[in-house]
Amino acid sequence: SIMREISGIVKMEQQLADKLGIQRAIIVSGNADEAPWVKNELGRATAQWMKSSLHGENIIGVTGGTTMSTVAKMLTPTKPDQEWLFVPARGGIGEDVKNQANTICSQMAENTDSKHRVLYAPDEVSKEMYESMIKDPNFTEVLHLIKSACMVLHGIGDAITMAERRKTSSENVEKLIAANAVGEAFGYYFNETGEIVHKIQTVGLQLADLTAIQHVLAVAGGGSKAKAIAAYMKRAPKSTILITDEGAANQLLKG
Ligand code: BG6
Repeated sequence: SIMREISGIVKMEQQLADKLGIQRAIIVSGNADEAPWVKNELGRATAQWMKSSLHGENIIGVTGGTTMSTVAKMLTPTKPDQEWLFVPARGGIGEDVKNQANTICSQMAENTDSKHRVLYAPDEVSKEMYESMIKDPNFTEVLHLIKSACMVLHGIGDAITMAERRKTSSENVEKLIAANAVGEAFGYYFNETGEIVHKIQTVGLQLADLTAIQHVLAVAGGGSKAKAIAAYMKRAPKSTILITDEGAANQLLKG
């Protein structure tokens, strides 16, 4: 029956959260690797969670990626007691414009009738560049907003897939392979034990900042991301809520 199926999923969600050592896991049907509608369901579940857990004025930090882009697509106008401000979590890390956090924040703002800010910062930031950027008051204001976020929405990627998508030099891809990098989030690359094996130097949210953020929503599905999710979760704050699909969850529970 439907009820049995539902309670089966609830049990699976509990097992997954326990296994990963995080607050909660939400599992949608299907496998995002096999059917495109599954990503929409990840987006819908994330949008629902946001709508039901936020009250009053909130700053929401967002990373890039195709999964975040479907979250934007599934968002609808906020309730009367909700006032949201979307800010990109980090400088644009080498993605196509449609997958960049700035673009996604503007779509999220449009679909929820909210506001957003733009972070004018490239992927990699040298010390000299940073020194000159912080002279711009708009830039420092956005950085400050990022650090005051009460919710962060982020994707998780397979390490090599992400390195290639960012057009990382073949030399650096080789280094990632040699270091057994399997997962990526926020520009940090992790091996299976959750060690950081490489990091893109950029501005905005750093991994250590996450522990101070009340709501951390990690959204990633598809069996091909199971290793990446497992690796990143070794590092993730315990308060993390993972929104994933059966494709990834089945692999994670087996592994
Ligand atoms: C990127 C984020 O934009 O999207 C990464 O910066 C994340 O941290 C990636 O791993 C996930 O992308 P996708 O398209 O698989 O959702």
